[in-house]
Amino acid sequence: MKLAVIGLGHTGLVVAAVLAEIGHQVHGFDIESGKRSRISRGHSPFYEPDLDSLIARGLATGRLVISRTLDEAQADAEVVFLAVGTPAANGDAPNLAEFWSAAGQVVPLLLPHAVLAIKSTLPVGTTDELIARFKAQWPDAPPVVNVPEFLRQGTAVADFLRPERVIFGSHSPAALNVMRVVYEPFKLSSETIHECRPVEAELIKHAANCFLAARISYANELANLCGRLGADYEIVRHGLAADSRIGSSFLNAGLGFGGSCFPKDLAALIKTARDAGSPFTLLEATLAANRAQVHRVVALADEMVGGLSGRKVLQLGLTYKAGTDDTRGSRALELAFLLIREGAELTCHDPAYIPTEVGSDQLFTIADDPVSAASRMDLVLIATDWPEFIDLPWSKIVGSMRSARLLDGRNLLDPTEMTAAGFTYRGIGR
Ligand code: UDX
Repeated sequence: MKLAVIGLGHTGLVVAAVLAEIGHQVHGFDIESGKRSRISRGHSPFYEPDLDSLIARGLATGRLVISRTLDEAQADAEVVFLAVGTPAANGDAPNLAEFWSAAGQVVPLLLPHAVLAIKSTLPVGTTDELIARFKAQWPDAPPVVNVPEFLRQGTAVADFLRPERVIFGSHSPAALNVMRVVYEPFKLSSETIHECRPVEAELIKHAANCFLAARISYANELANLCGRLGADYEIVRHGLAADSRIGSSFLNAGLGFGGSCFPKDLAALIKTARDAGSPFTLLEATLAANRAQVHRVVALADEMVGGLSGRKVLQLGLTYKAGTDDTRGSRALELAFLLIREGAELTCHDPAYIPTEVGSDQLFTIADDPVSAASRMDLVLIATDWPEFIDLPWSKIVGSMRSARLLDGRNLLDPTEMTAAGFTYRGIGR
């Protein structure tokens, strides 16, 4: 089928490359010309495993084409996917300016019978608002499907290639038929595809992210309690996870959740619920716990070194999680700023960090080699769960530090081993 993907960010580019990979003819467009030319040369503008090879293959077969204009991209598309960003704005509610602008440009140009498929995450009710606005403006407004995306950064290609569930939210039976044909090459079982109305599709997306966020805040508050009671959270976590009704995912304690989705989707659903007169107090507490968590880690660091002011601290990790170079909503980056505010002399190391935050590289030193950077430090603090940190030569690091204190903000290391190596070790709830 002939498809167009508008917006080639973390979601749109994966969608475009994978849809080309499974055999569709895909035209992609992004408003940023630098991004378009980088992708046209076969490179993703951001780090995502396996994506470069998919882009290169799509370009080589001609099934993936990066268009210079929006008109060119959607000229003969049977389905246009809108995947433009809806970034967190002040107060965390998403900013929909780019979305409304793109939608307003796309719809008048659509072929008759073409389907508009929305991949951007929109606050609940926005798809119906869009349908109502378009009906008022254009009598032949296209059928619209909300197709929420659940891919995770770091495993985005695999997630999109082998989805656990696909949600089609539409009022139009014809559009649902078209979407089934688009997804046919994935050879999904009928139980994998869920058809519903747009409002339900939007709710499923938000409810999934909010549920996982709630689990993390639960884990963090439980870990904090373990710390107070002298219990080891990791032992408690394993006992909890052994209950198949609970399972092990999203129970890792740390600095709190970040990224471009969880905090934003949480804030959006809280607002939706408040506006609807049905406050979601559990989610309000989830957000509050998450905001407090990074401050608890600062307090722990302060306690370990007897006051952070003037202390030399090496922070390991700045991205919001391992496997990505993304620092949007990163608690690790927030931690760095808080440590500096407390007067620490901060050096940071991250395997993928690109200093994009305004002024961040002037506030702290970036070290390429964590081992030599640890020399003469008062504290080493793990802030992102990069597996690389587990294999650092800790017995070498311990001897070079001014005082061998290790705060494991992601519970990556074994406290017994670290203590035996000579560290004063603290984790989250251990
Ligand atoms: C998330 C959703 O998982 C995905 O379905 C949606 O499409 C986009 O948002 P992503 O942002 O890539 O994906 O990250 P994810 O791996 O879900 O982690 C989110 C945050 O939670 C990270 O900051 C991570 O460090 C944190 N986290 C995760 C924990 O603190 N503890 C955990 O146990 C798991």
